[in-house]
Amino acid sequence: ELGVDCLWLSPMYPSPLRDDGYDISDYYNIHPDYGTLDDFKKLIAEAKKRDIRIITDLVMNHTSDLHPWFQEARKSKDSPKRDWYVWSDTDDLYTETRIIFLDTEPSNWTYDEVAGQYFWHRFYRTQPDLNWDNPEVIEEFKNIARFWLDLGLDGFRADAVPYLIERDHTSNENLPETHEILKDFRAFMDEEFPGTILLGEANMWPWDLRPYFADGDEFQMCFHFPVMPRLFMAVKKGEVSDVIDIMERTPDIPANCQWCTFLRNHDELTLEMVTEEERQWMWEQYAPEDRMRLNLGIRRRMAPLLDNDRRKLELLNVVLFSLPGSPILYYGDEIGMGDNIWLFDRNGVRTPMQWKNAPNAGFSEAEETYAPAIDDDAFGYARVNVENALADEHSLWYWTKHLIAMRKEHPALSRGSYEFVQTDNPAVLAILRKCENETILALANFSNKAQVARVALPEYAAHEKVELFSQIPHGCKDETHRTLLEPYEYQWLLMRD
Ligand code: GLC
Repeated sequence: ELGVDCLWLSPMYPSPLRDDGYDISDYYNIHPDYGTLDDFKKLIAEAKKRDIRIITDLVMNHTSDLHPWFQEARKSKDSPKRDWYVWSDTDDLYTETRIIFLDTEPSNWTYDEVAGQYFWHRFYRTQPDLNWDNPEVIEEFKNIARFWLDLGLDGFRADAVPYLIERDHTSNENLPETHEILKDFRAFMDEEFPGTILLGEANMWPWDLRPYFADGDEFQMCFHFPVMPRLFMAVKKGEVSDVIDIMERTPDIPANCQWCTFLRNHDELTLEMVTEEERQWMWEQYAPEDRMRLNLGIRRRMAPLLDNDRRKLELLNVVLFSLPGSPILYYGDEIGMGDNIWLFDRNGVRTPMQWKNAPNAGFSEAEETYAPAIDDDAFGYARVNVENALADEHSLWYWTKHLIAMRKEHPALSRGSYEFVQTDNPAVLAILRKCENETILALANFSNKAQVARVALPEYAAHEKVELFSQIPHGCKDETHRTLLEPYEYQWLLMRD
């Protein structure tokens, strides 16, 4: 009903859940807590009926240490699975590689008593890295992909892809050999399952992300990580230059590719792609308490981050929908769900969806859920839930539905070119989106004060303009389009010929 046309499911495979499912112990099944393969087939069929595609996470870089492959591999150096993982007699190899889970892992090597060697892991020590130099691993992952795509899945979000291959004296990230493997994987999918998609998770700078699109023959889509924290920076500073700057430093991508943009997801709000100084500032502003921080990020949800201020929530969402790329919404953010910073790791932003004011927020009839539903005063399920949102025509849910519908109605917003237009006001962002038949000027005031912005658009002076949210015509016929914007106000101005 919201208008979502693709679901991305985080890992639903059997797993000991040491990393909430990103530690897979069987790639060919569904975790019994979630249901069965038949349930999953039914989900795909029901989604198709509603024109909703489904992609799932495919964790390629590592498995769970409880996966039978690893259990087999550690048994002996002669084990046929030994070479499926990355081993060393010492832990002083690959010392130029950074640690990602800084809060918990002192090293990327862990000694395994049974194996009598160290194994390599870029994430938790319960997630040994697979050895992608081994052709058997490549073949196995093609079989895994075949299994799921045969069921009618529409593609994968390929998890943690920069780290597939290791080479001494490198950072072991974004290596050319890794790109080769990914391209080969894409070619295989195109050939056997045309129309399916690979979305890459590479938390990198735009110039390091660009190679993941290659010549349009590697990933069709990649997350644009660096713009995300800058949107939060901009709304706190009341100034938009950081957003413009990172987008202008983003290289063009092939015509058959697209960015995926987002405000929040299931992980911490990552601050990997900002400077040390910016990170400190973001932590001070958005994570004043220690337990709100995790690794290089902030483990909070969108509504609490934005002071549950409807104006800021709308502003950032409109900007997200005005930037190039396909916006991804995190479940629950459309009703303004909160977080639980008392839960371990990133679980605080992974609490049950709040459907209604009922036990477990209506998420489950089980006596107890994996994580408790949020029940605090501001964000608890008694108040913040889907049922209430649907009963209130002014709710954030209805507003989000409207936003999605408008983006679908106006191809300039989804497929159009984009350029930043000078506004003479550092608090106001102006993005011009253009496609063959329409032009839309998106204006957004990031400041908590009213602002006047003058936008030099002489070629559109004579055009009639209508603001799409209010449907109010905009009378201005000046060469320098002059607009007054209330605090955090936004506009989408459609230029009529
Ligand atoms: C990705 C996932 C994250 C997970 C990590 C290791 O970054 O988004 O949740 O912990 O990969 O698999």
